[in-house]
Amino acid sequence: MTELSRRECMALGIGAAASLAGLPASAVEIAPSLDALARARGLRFGSALGAGGQSDEFGDPRYRSILLRECGILVAENEHKWPFLQRGPNDPHDFRRADAMVDFAEKHGLLFRGHTLLWHKPQWLPRWVNEHDFGSQPGKEAERLLVNHINSVCKHYGTRIGAWDVVNETVSEQTGKFRETVFTRHIGSEVIDLAFHTARAAAPHARLVYNDYMTWEPHSKTHRDGVLRHLEAWLKRGVPVEALGIQGHIGTENSDSSTGFATGREEDWRKFLDEVKGMGLKMLITEFDVHDKGLPADIDKRDRAIADYARAFLDVTLSYAEVEQVLVWGMADHYSWLQDRWPRPDGLPKRPTPYSKDFKAKALRQAIADAFRAAPGRGQRTEL
Ligand code: XIL
Repeated sequence: MTELSRRECMALGIGAAASLAGLPASAVEIAPSLDALARARGLRFGSALGAGGQSDEFGDPRYRSILLRECGILVAENEHKWPFLQRGPNDPHDFRRADAMVDFAEKHGLLFRGHTLLWHKPQWLPRWVNEHDFGSQPGKEAERLLVNHINSVCKHYGTRIGAWDVVNETVSEQTGKFRETVFTRHIGSEVIDLAFHTARAAAPHARLVYNDYMTWEPHSKTHRDGVLRHLEAWLKRGVPVEALGIQGHIGTENSDSSTGFATGREEDWRKFLDEVKGMGLKMLITEFDVHDKGLPADIDKRDRAIADYARAFLDVTLSYAEVEQVLVWGMADHYSWLQDRWPRPDGLPKRPTPYSKDFKAKALRQAIADAFRAAPGRGQRTEL
């Protein structure tokens, strides 16, 4: 069971802090919010949410109230992805689901990140793109589809969306090489240049981000190296990438083999972050959660291990002033995408997010709060 620390109680302005410390977190309202704690260090905090693309936590008033209480930034879990916006090559984009969330964010003074203009992985491109007849001038047709998509989305939002994950996951974690898609077949690897340049022209105000899931675990070395080499090449060619989105899906391996938490990763992770920093890029943690597939069933033990692991990762990562935001991939366990993927061998629900199914703050919430408190300050950005 998550407990409030003495300090947390003091922050709540509760005089009898000593006697309250030890109460379940659910017994008292959690304050200050994660975004307030982040802001105190020049950081921002936010979360993903779905509005019917695949899940509909936006329709859940309890979830919305957690978002409003804790977050300064929101991002659509699926609703800004190409397959969710455009049904066919000649169909107009349908922004209704996504717009409902952006409207909600604006109404409540929250910022909204755009995720993602090009998820450059065949299984996440629209099926109709993969199966499209590219005709006698396939390069031109591929370019037309992509440019039309990026322009339509960026222009629809204008300055309402201040940052775009222009490209998501184009580096293979197995080989460190570029992924092959219909776009590489017809345009070549310059499809990435095209996506960024198109986004730059269509959203001149926006921060343009490359987002991927390389992380600090040993199995991620090939992926990390691949991402570094690609970032380097893009920057050398003048591709307008400004920041690296570190998804931050940490924990057991992001595959079907459960290994538990690995060790010996801080040094490698620092080397990676140092290189990204050396390239002059900003960094964001864009999809943080902790995969607990390999951890014991016991909830207290599991939550403790998750929190400690998260804290260690955040401490190292947030020690870099270039890291400006932390977004979690969902605030409550039962809505987490990880519930449907790579199930635990014991079949138990996973606990990857800061709040439990009954919307009680967990040890992970405390770990994120403590990591913000411990982080060195950095210059506050007002935009995304
Ligand atoms: C996931 C969503 O959470 C799922 O609902 C969907 O089925 C697949 O995509 N990396 C990303 C996110 O960049 O877009 C992914 O989101 C999780 C991994």
